[in-house]
Amino acid sequence: MKVEDIKKICVVGAGNMGHQIALSAALAGYKVTCTDISQDMLDKAETFARTYLPERVAKGKMTQEQADLGLNNISFTINLEEAAHDTDFVIEAAVEKINTKRKLFEDLDRITPPHAILATNSSFIVSSKIADATKRPDKVCNMHFFNPALVMKLVEVVQGPHTSTETAQVTMDLCAKMGKTGAWLKKEIYGFLVNRILSALHNEALFLADMGIATPEEIDLAVMNALGHPMGPFRLMDFTGIDLSYYIGMERYQDTRDPKDKPSPLVVEKFAKGEWGKKTKKGFYSYE
Ligand code: 3HC
Repeated sequence: MKVEDIKKICVVGAGNMGHQIALSAALAGYKVTCTDISQDMLDKAETFARTYLPERVAKGKMTQEQADLGLNNISFTINLEEAAHDTDFVIEAAVEKINTKRKLFEDLDRITPPHAILATNSSFIVSSKIADATKRPDKVCNMHFFNPALVMKLVEVVQGPHTSTETAQVTMDLCAKMGKTGAWLKKEIYGFLVNRILSALHNEALFLADMGIATPEEIDLAVMNALGHPMGPFRLMDFTGIDLSYYIGMERYQDTRDPKDKPSPLVVEKFAKGEWGKKTKKGFYSYE
């Protein structure tokens, strides 16, 4: 398959990442179906698209024709079969739980045409943990976007031992078609490039806050003012979702059984309280 053969893209998961990945692909000219198990998430994703695009036009960042194309190209459905049966490329952006992903890939393998590439937007999980749930492991890879996906340029494409070079190449080419910069990782590693680096920063920030050395606000200010980051680690966790930090820690701990991989006490506390960041209007900061 060549990137030119991709006409239809299916994005599974309409959450924090999925809704913006879907819209990015629609704006790049692809017919996109966005699907989720939650109608509420799909409604929110559709409302976002209908609000965001006119705002871009009003701001002079997009023409009316581009906005119309984006909106015409995207559709939302709760029915996975309907979303994926005629797709050429799937980007899975569901919850960061390995068993959910494995089940999804098993279903997608049954539903999608045999030529379709199945990519996962997982933040940390390498695709070899998922590929054997399908009968097409050569067409399975990681395609990892960053939040907010409409803005951030980098996409990591991770080629596992099962992934064909053709699949990785087509995925890299798709990144370019979507106006993104692909980084091709030729070997798998948990967390890829960016999240490994980011995790080191976040773990240290959480350790300092857990120890009472400084508050999350103080640590964020220090990182912004000393390192020039656009937002500090706690604001960023609010933004990407404290639930995601929790699930990533738990998944990793279940895999390694190493206590240092468990989510930090502060993350566990926030997760238990349902204070998951911007999406729940409260995390380390308040968004009322
Ligand atoms: N969705 C879409 N667009 C957004 C947005 C959002 N949530 N937030 C901001 N933007 C756009 C604005 O529309 C604006 O676009 P324009 O310049 O073309 O008009 C542009 O981003 C800048 O926005 P603002 O001026 O309002 O605000 P900032 O200058 O603070 O920029 C930011 C916002 C781009 C989010 C910036 O704060 C930033 O770069 N933050 C760090 C983001 C980051 O580190 N992301 C990686 C997270 S890790 C990850 O994703 C891993 C994954 O596995 C979870």
